[in-house]
Amino acid sequence: MVDQKNVLLGVSGGIAAYKACALTSKLTQKGANVRVIMTENAAKFVSPLTFQALSRNPVYTDTFDEKDPSKIAHIDLADWADMIIIAPATANFIGKLANGIANDMLSTTLLASEAAVYIAPAMNVHMYGHPAVMENMEKLAGWGYHFIEPGAGYLACGYVGKGRLEEPETIIKVIEEHQNVNRFLSGKKLLVSAGPTREKIDPVRFFTNRSTGKMGFAIADAAAELGAEVTLVTGPSEQKVSHSRIMRIDVETAEEMYQAMHQFFPSNDIVIKAAAVADYRPKKVYDQKLKKQPGTWQIEMERTNDILQSLGENKTHQFLVGFAAETTNPLEYGVNKLEKKNLDAIVINNVSQKGAGFGEDTNIVTYLNKQQEKEEIEIASKKEVATKLLTLINRDIKDGMQ
Ligand code: CTP
Repeated sequence: MVDQKNVLLGVSGGIAAYKACALTSKLTQKGANVRVIMTENAAKFVSPLTFQALSRNPVYTDTFDEKDPSKIAHIDLADWADMIIIAPATANFIGKLANGIANDMLSTTLLASEAAVYIAPAMNVHMYGHPAVMENMEKLAGWGYHFIEPGAGYLACGYVGKGRLEEPETIIKVIEEHQNVNRFLSGKKLLVSAGPTREKIDPVRFFTNRSTGKMGFAIADAAAELGAEVTLVTGPSEQKVSHSRIMRIDVETAEEMYQAMHQFFPSNDIVIKAAAVADYRPKKVYDQKLKKQPGTWQIEMERTNDILQSLGENKTHQFLVGFAAETTNPLEYGVNKLEKKNLDAIVINNVSQKGAGFGEDTNIVTYLNKQQEKEEIEIASKKEVATKLLTLINRDIKDGMQ
């Protein structure tokens, strides 16, 4: 899996830098093109010449040491890399990356790159457990960086515990497994809708719902990581996209979402409707702010288009997946929606359960396909739930279940 791949190895300043030599050697033996960037402190532990000899490429340590005048080295390396491995990653380097600090060749290149990044930390057991380091790692993991956890054992500082750089063979195995899993949606185009919609009453008021967009964004992120080209149509949401393979289309109303979903529907292979779309909107929208009046206020509402239903009616080759947000009889209502809307699968969400539904970072869902095969996905982060859902969707597509 690393064969013919451009692997950029970042070595930061810890004693485990010596193990990065073996890693360079093993990567090269497996057919990877390896280039190495060392931090200034890493070069105090191991000579750049060692990495140069093992990788058979020049080693970079200084942002301003431009070896080729026709190129800007850190941008060139950032674009060249298919993947970046940071081994060992010190607490300091993790801290810099988590805070967007780019003050040397390695940190600058990382900020400039869109390649998959694997971080293998190595440090003292107490440093590894420090809340600052933990928080930085969580932040980076949330941005899509992959961690290869350190092993436990005897540490160079004399302590015994977690903090030892994972063995080079294991680092490569983890990366290969990840790259393998990574690819099952490559070549596929996926359209996903997320978030709530807003239905205007007047310039200052609207109807909306409790959706935050977290589940739809998690699906977009997971799909992009699995290799898909993703179009994300989202209602108003604070969520951010982090992957370059996601095209984000912002909409506000159910009607705008309807238009956008139909625009992109024909060219997509997998379509997932995770948005919480308003079923009703005010019949009349006022151009000016309405002044309050004595007594009650009645607003006449009209139905919006059911986007999923209309996509189901126009389905050609797409694998169409709906969501069902329910508070009672989730399975029964879910099955009804699956059949009524001509779906290939439905994700049933009991939003009244703790740890599931709107605004939560976790979810608990049931995936049900057209053959009524049911898979329960236990409580997990929305990203993990998304990856499991995409694995099931991929299984059903492979089984010709459209
Ligand atoms: N949906 C849609 N357009 C709408 C309403 C819902 O595309 N106007 C989609 C949602 O994105 C979701 C699925 O339909 O994928 C089910 O949504 P849900 O709110 O659970 O159910 P409804 O179809 O609105 O039915 P009900 O209100 O009876 O529960």
